[in-house]
Amino acid sequence: MTLSTLPVQIDNSGLEPISNTSANPSFGEVLEQRMARRSFLKGSLAAAVSGIMGVGLTGCNSSDTAEPLPPVSVIPAPAFLGFAAIAANRLDGITVPAGYSAKPFLAWGTPITGTYPAFLADASNTAAEQAMQMGMNHDGMHFFPIDVRSGGNSSSEGLLVMNHEYVEPNVLHPQGPVLPRPAEQVAKELAAHGVSVVHIEKAANGDWRVVSNSPLNRRITGETPMELAGPVRGHAKVVTKYSPDGSRTRGTLNNCAHGYTPWGTYLTAEENWAGYFMNSDSPQVREHRRYGVGSSNGRYFWETATPAADRYQRFNASTLAASAAEDYRNEPNTFGWIVEIDPFNPDSVPQKRTALGRFAHEGIVFAKVTEGEPLVAYSGDDARDEYIYKYVSKQPYFRNTAGGHLLNDGTLYVARFNADGSGDWLALDINNPEFAAKAALAGVSFSDQADVLLNTRLAADIAGATKMDRPEWGAVHPETSEVYFTLTNNTNRTAAQVDAANPRANNATGHIIRWKERGTLASSQFNWDIFLLAGDVGTATPGTNLVLTAENHHASPDGLWFDDNGLLWIQTDMSGSQQSSGPYGNNAMLVADPVSRQIKRFLVGPTDCEVTGVIMTPDQRTMFVNIQHPGDRSSVTNFTSNWPDGGNSRPRSATVIITKDDGGMIGT
Ligand code: FEO
Ligand code: CA
Ligand code: CA
Repeated sequence: MTLSTLPVQIDNSGLEPISNTSANPSFGEVLEQRMARRSFLKGSLAAAVSGIMGVGLTGCNSSDTAEPLPPVSVIPAPAFLGFAAIAANRLDGITVPAGYSAKPFLAWGTPITGTYPAFLADASNTAAEQAMQMGMNHDGMHFFPIDVRSGGNSSSEGLLVMNHEYVEPNVLHPQGPVLPRPAEQVAKELAAHGVSVVHIEKAANGDWRVVSNSPLNRRITGETPMELAGPVRGHAKVVTKYSPDGSRTRGTLNNCAHGYTPWGTYLTAEENWAGYFMNSDSPQVREHRRYGVGSSNGRYFWETATPAADRYQRFNASTLAASAAEDYRNEPNTFGWIVEIDPFNPDSVPQKRTALGRFAHEGIVFAKVTEGEPLVAYSGDDARDEYIYKYVSKQPYFRNTAGGHLLNDGTLYVARFNADGSGDWLALDINNPEFAAKAALAGVSFSDQADVLLNTRLAADIAGATKMDRPEWGAVHPETSEVYFTLTNNTNRTAAQVDAANPRANNATGHIIRWKERGTLASSQFNWDIFLLAGDVGTATPGTNLVLTAENHHASPDGLWFDDNGLLWIQTDMSGSQQSSGPYGNNAMLVADPVSRQIKRFLVGPTDCEVTGVIMTPDQRTMFVNIQHPGDRSSVTNFTSNWPDGGNSRPRSATVIITKDDGGMIGT
């Protein structure tokens, strides 16, 4: 068979198709109704929105009793941010403030396990070799001190665990991708996805290195056997030819941000997985349609792999046989989950935790745990007009018994951001009378709670959740448990669809929202406001003193993380065109004091990259930051970045190790 270059552009934009056609009211409508009702609320929608962001907006509650909301509060942050902010730039390298140093580490292709095959600069490593090397497109990442399971906090040795979100076929293969897809190319792409567990240590000279031949070093790929855990395990809708009892699946894909549990395991989030499959059935089942599974081909045409094999044919989710146990009509239903990995047990089988819901999980972040209280976690669905979710475990957390079982049984809620600055967590629970009544009213039936979870987006539509501007990472303040979430952008939001929580039409630059639970962390009510509106110099966040300057203007906030000092690190994911033609330069990382809203640009990445994933050692003297897809507009013959190796080398995603030259804490 003649091989030809892929005839269509591979869509690596990270933009899922809009599949939310629910009639959930936009808050433009809700607010206009309220404004018509309340004569004292004069002025435009914008004025009302700015009022919400001030302290306590009185007189705008959902009931007519005007009761002030308790203000969102934070503890004072330490006097950090002593460095000079760096300027926006378009250099093909890493820029950090004076007094800091940055070194690339663990670039794509770095050998970490097996026979430790060396990376070949022409990308001619085989699929089998790729499965022993760092994957591509580093994303969410956590550092587990090597002694964390025994209560230690080593800052000189640990497991660095990270996701590999997707692949750049033009860079991954020496001659680029061809169609029909040679099985070897598909196998290499699957091997470049997944997760890396890397045992690292700090050498005497201060440099970090891989602990070679450590039994803990591990690659998890798009083909690693995994189990389904929680309510969906064994359900008829996850029965496949590979797993007729619906208990197993192969691999994890499009792992964007991450999470980590209080008991020391890693969580990886399956984000834009739907595009990897195709299903030509007409109509498609709701478990595929509402998630944007295509009808003609998968994103990388893996289903066309030649010679054909079961491991590739599973990406064709069309009905092809007499029963679900004879084809892969249900394969996409085994994706869209949060996956738990025990990085300290290289033989552990990753568990897909279905109680946490099925959607385009950006990541997951836990609230502070308290002995005897339920476990609480938050996760955003990163697609335009999708939602933010909260999970509350049924069993209380106890340090001595905590484990994955806490993620198998609990209640999943979805957020409704009310125009008055209050919010409600709406239970997606078939046994909840309010939810059951709404489902009945909508004419939607679910066979059981597993069916609700498989159709999390539909359940959230029914509950009446607020459509958001692409929820990305969340971060929980280490002391106050306030939750911050990035809403990266949504240029599809029209003026009529503007609401209080998503206050800008054609939102090309994004914003950060935050909330605080009312009462206990498991509460079904919260208060919220907008922390910042991202944008060009001069962009003001109404109701605050924040006006962006050349020190901190930015767009498309995505990665978000609180360090132990309560500083908020913000990473950007602007599109290639936004970086090359906008006022912002390359993607960057900023750091914010959440109390004063002082924000400074701390790092600028190389050309056509995304800055995503950040963690520090417990002593806060080594910071790890991931640089994803440098040169992502490269063709097979023309690389738009040569970072990190320079010259005319092919670009490689890599971690960057940042230290302060005087040995001090990062961010001072
Ligand atoms: Fe993979 Fe939502 O960024
Ligand atoms: Ca992201
Ligand atoms: Ca993004």
